Amino acid sequence: MRLHVADHPLITHKLTVLRDENTSSPVFRQLTEELMTLLAYEATRNVRVEPFTIRTPVTETTGVKIADPKPLVVPILRAGLGMLEGMTKLVPTAEVGFLGIVRNEETLQPTTYAERLPDDLSDRQCFVLDPMLATGGSLAAAIEYLFDRGATDVTAVCLLGTPEGLHAIESLVGDRDVTLVLGALDRGLNERGYIVPGLGDAGDRLYGTV
Ligand code: URA
Repeated sequence: MRLHVADHPLITHKLTVLRDENTSSPVFRQLTEELMTLLAYEATRNVRVEPFTIRTPVTETTGVKIADPKPLVVPILRAGLGMLEGMTKLVPTAEVGFLGIVRNEETLQPTTYAERLPDDLSDRQCFVLDPMLATGGSLAAAIEYLFDRGATDVTAVCLLGTPEGLHAIESLVGDRDVTLVLGALDRGLNERGYIVPGLGDAGDRLYGTV
């Protein structure tokens, strides 16, 4: 697995405001989108492109365009939705699939309650969006779901991660082609499963406590 932890003052600045408990939902949503756009720049470093010939006003030249099939962006419901706009702003031709994953309160295992994805992902570059890599349970379940559909090229983008979450993803992916992009790597988890220092419940802060 390849790991990239962002190292840019603009990202750290925006994350600091995001973490602040006094930051309101509208500002939190705006910052999540902006952070995602910055992280998308890193996450798409290896996006597949193909040669493309155009005419400038001066001459013919060959550049590149994003190759077909287009990248597939998969936000994990609910909090991953807050990152979607930031990604599609940068890659407007990407297609979007959805995965809803919730932890079963009896078995404590993550279960998938909603999905809208192409049947065959074997030739797709997949970008999974999930703001909080805490225990790693839901992100691991999402990546496994994509593997089961044939995906071989997966990039996951999270605003914050923990060493525990990293370890869970590493154990799952082994030597498969997975890249993890984090805005920051935090200290760990508290006894209630919150990331420390973290930012609280990302879904609640984006959308209110529904
Ligand atoms: N999910 C969140 O939204 N926040 C955490 O701190 C951990 C998991």
